[in-house]
Amino acid sequence: MKIQLKELSMKFDDVLAVNGLNVHINKGELVSLLGPSGCGKSTTLFMLAGLYKPSSGEMYFGDTLVNNVEPENRGIGMVFQNYALYPHMTVLKNIMFPLKMAKVPHKKAEEKAIEMANLVQIGHLLDRKPKQLSGGQQQRVAIARALVKQPQLLLLDEPLSNLDARLRIEMREEIRRIQQEVGITTIFVTHDQEEAMSISDKVLLMKDGQFQQYSKPQEMYDHPVNMFVGKFMGNPPINMIPVTFDHKNLSIQINGTDEKLKVTSKLNYELVSGNQMLLGVRAEDFVLEKLEGISNSFSAKVDLVERTGRDTLVHATVGNHAIRALVNQDFVVKPSNIVKLSIRKNRLQLFDAETELNLVLGKE
Ligand SMILES: Nc1ncnc2c1ncn2[C@@H]1O[C@H](COP(=O)(O)OP(=O)(O)O)[C@@H](O)[C@H]1O
Ligand SMILES: [Mg+2]
Repeated sequence: MKIQLKELSMKFDDVLAVNGLNVHINKGELVSLLGPSGCGKSTTLFMLAGLYKPSSGEMYFGDTLVNNVEPENRGIGMVFQNYALYPHMTVLKNIMFPLKMAKVPHKKAEEKAIEMANLVQIGHLLDRKPKQLSGGQQQRVAIARALVKQPQLLLLDEPLSNLDARLRIEMREEIRRIQQEVGITTIFVTHDQEEAMSISDKVLLMKDGQFQQYSKPQEMYDHPVNMFVGKFMGNPPINMIPVTFDHKNLSIQINGTDEKLKVTSKLNYELVSGNQMLLGVRAEDFVLEKLEGISNSFSAKVDLVERTGRDTLVHATVGNHAIRALVNQDFVVKPSNIVKLSIRKNRLQLFDAETELNLVLGKE
């Protein structure tokens, strides 16, 4: 089922929790709703579920306007952060519960519940009570219960945040597997950018109830539309270096230094408000050399070298700006060394200091 949101808003007294959201989700896609705590993710999900009534705007499931459709008639399955399993019921009874409420005959309900338990790989735990299960197993029960009525839309609200780091990674892969096996349109709420990047077809990023960007994860990472998106995606965080733009020579000078770089990327000049900008470069997009004479590079002094096993994170300073660069682990460098930094082709971002918009023209 495809989903369409038009100018969807939700106002609580004086808080505009969701502000004019326009989104189109294709059938069978997994879309992550991403953003910091309090940005309106759960509110959006609760409106889709029918638990909150929007202040304004429209929600379409397929071609049907569902604003006034009761929650139980929307064909949705929902999983919450705290699982919300019934503690006194066995796994089997928990999964069967929605079917029982829908008055499905016992035998048929049991068959369907067992099928779902097998899908989420807890078929051997049917007689256990929730407290006899690990967090990951409880989450599997919650997913099976959400899917048992064969909903058209699966809504997940931070389903992994109660799990430890290793289990979170395992379960997110499981959610993706199950989602693809069932082929169900899914909206997955998370505040974790890596989680969103790793499992989504598309990511919708919000801030303070406001839409920021809706793209494929890699596109959002490679071409953030503004500084907020650039900083929110990626770890270590993107380097942001204040620079002054020279319109005549198409070059930038790092503020407080004599270091200059030529800008070869195409810029959207309609968005340029002045000459103050921020150079955005991801840590892995710097190329470090110890030789002088590398063209289109700038010099920086190494402060600290952090080895993480897979690669090396070099902390350096240019002027009074701290930067971080990821280099191959066999690149030998020591504190107080001077290194030359250049930027991989097409990997430079330039943000307008005033509007915070990305001035580099994206792929589209
Ligand atoms: N029932 C409510 N009554 C009043 N304010 C609410 C209610 N639910 C959420 N809010 C406010 O709306 C904003 C968005 O909240 P929420 O959707 O829960 O954010 P998220 O899920 O992204 O953390 C927050 O400022 C929150 O305090
Ligand atoms: Mg929430």
